[in-house]
Amino acid sequence: MLKADNVSAAYGKALALKEVSLKVEKGEIVSLIGANGAGKTTALRVISGMIRPLKGEVTFEGKSIVGLEPYQIASIGIIHVPEGRGLFPEMTVRENLEMGAFLRTDKDSISEDLEFVYSLFPVLKEREKQLAGTLSGGEQQMLAIGKGLMGNPKLLMLDEPSLGLAPMLVDKIFETIVQINKEKGTTILVAEQNAYMALTSAHRAYVIENGVTVMEGTGEELLGNEHVRKAYLGI
Ligand SMILES: Nc1ncnc2c1ncn2[C@@H]1O[C@H](COP(=O)(O)OP(=O)(O)O)[C@@H](O)[C@H]1O
Ligand SMILES: [Mg+2]
Repeated sequence: MLKADNVSAAYGKALALKEVSLKVEKGEIVSLIGANGAGKTTALRVISGMIRPLKGEVTFEGKSIVGLEPYQIASIGIIHVPEGRGLFPEMTVRENLEMGAFLRTDKDSISEDLEFVYSLFPVLKEREKQLAGTLSGGEQQMLAIGKGLMGNPKLLMLDEPSLGLAPMLVDKIFETIVQINKEKGTTILVAEQNAYMALTSAHRAYVIENGVTVMEGTGEELLGNEHVRKAYLGI
């Protein structure tokens, strides 16, 4: 479904991605793990069109998406839930969810998807009229995922969904990621520093170090890999 081949990207003169190659097949949950500064966010930004790559190719459903604007990439079904969640803090929960559906042309299915989001996260329904900026961190992350789902993604990209959350909420977020994939069949790419959660929840994963994808495997393979265990799992 998605394929990135030898992608390089930079901020000014600072090279952030050197050789990133990865693919995501339809129906998969794939995670991208790596230390802070490794290039996870940059990789997602290249895919969603926020940054143009210096080199390399990115294709989605067989077509190059390099050079498309972010809204065009969102329109073809790649929805990016950014680090920091990308919510409108002065708008209500409901309004944020509606904004998530802004680019959709299949307006008839929007109310169905709203019900799905509310079934995943009943607290969002209870707080429908509350301003997003006044939600707790966990609720904001739920809203960010919900807003992403309202865009009817073929590929949902989540950047650090566990960041700043208490362990119980981290579990809940990853359980929900698996549930979305199972119930909706949504393909998901997750960038995540919490390697344990990312690897136990994903079908496959990539390890990124200093802007290079250095390892690939099933979640299980990487959980058992010596280097991954030492560098990312602390065992
Ligand atoms: N807006 C930016 N301007 C300049 N450098 C950046 C910017 N964002 C990230 N970088 C740099 O790019 C590299 C990769 O960062 P990033 O993709 O955010 O890593 P990760 O998400 O894995 O923590 C780091 O060296 C980081 O300092
Ligand atoms: Mg990041």
